[in-house]
Amino acid sequence: MKLLARDESRHAGFINDSLKDAGIHIDLKFLTKVKKLHYFSPKFIFYGTYLSEKIGYARYITICRHLQSHPDRRFHPLFDRFEAWCNDEYRHGEAIALLLRADPRLTRGLNRLWIRFFLISVYATMYCRDHTRPALHHALGLDVARYDYRVFATTSEISRQILPFVLNIDDDRFRAAMEAMLRASLRLDAARKRKGLSGAFARASAMAAAGAAFVRMYFVPVAENQPPRHVRLAQSW
Ligand SMILES: [Fe+2]
Repeated sequence: MKLLARDESRHAGFINDSLKDAGIHIDLKFLTKVKKLHYFSPKFIFYGTYLSEKIGYARYITICRHLQSHPDRRFHPLFDRFEAWCNDEYRHGEAIALLLRADPRLTRGLNRLWIRFFLISVYATMYCRDHTRPALHHALGLDVARYDYRVFATTSEISRQILPFVLNIDDDRFRAAMEAMLRASLRLDAARKRKGLSGAFARASAMAAAGAAFVRMYFVPVAENQPPRHVRLAQSW
C-alpha cells in the first residue's frame, strides 16, 4: 500500500509539473482539511479500488498502444514515459486483487450482486463522462464510443483473473441501455442549468431515466467465469 501511494503521488507530481508548464497552478492540500470523510465497509473499497485501477490501466494502455502506432498524435512529452505509468497502474490493481483472492467470500454469494453494481457504475460513469468531455479523445484521434468499449473489453479480460463473471458488453441490450444512460445523463446536465419547477421536473425525469437504464443493464445476463487457480502478476496487453 505504501508503494502504491508512492506511485500515485509520483503520477500526480508529473501532472502537476506539466500543468505548471502550462501556467496552471493547482494546490489540492486543502482537500484533506475540508473534505468530509465517509465510512465504507472495506469490501466496497476493495471492489471500487480494484475496478478503478484496472479500468485506469486499460484506459492508459489503450492510449499508449494507440500512440505507439500513431506517433504524430503524441502532443505532450508526458507520453514518452507513459508505458511505465501504465505498468504502475496494473500493479496497483494486482495488489488489490491479492486482497480479494485472500478471502473467497468476497467474490461469492450476495457479494456477486455488489460486484455487478460496481462494474456497471464504473463503466456507465466512464461512458457518460468521456462523451461529455471529448476534447482529449479528439486530440488523440480516438473515437469515444469505440475507445470506451475497447477499454471495457480489456478490463473484463483482466478481471477474469479474479471475478466470477464478466458483463456481456457486446450484448445488444447492454449497449442499448448504455446509450439510454448517456441520453439521460445529457438530459440531466441540461436540466441542471434550468431553474424553477420545470428544471426540478426535468432533473427528476432524467434521473428516473438514468435509474431505468441502470436497471436494464443490471439485468442483462452475465457470462460466468472461473478464475485461474494461480494469480499471476504479468500484464499482456
Ligand atoms: Fe493507481
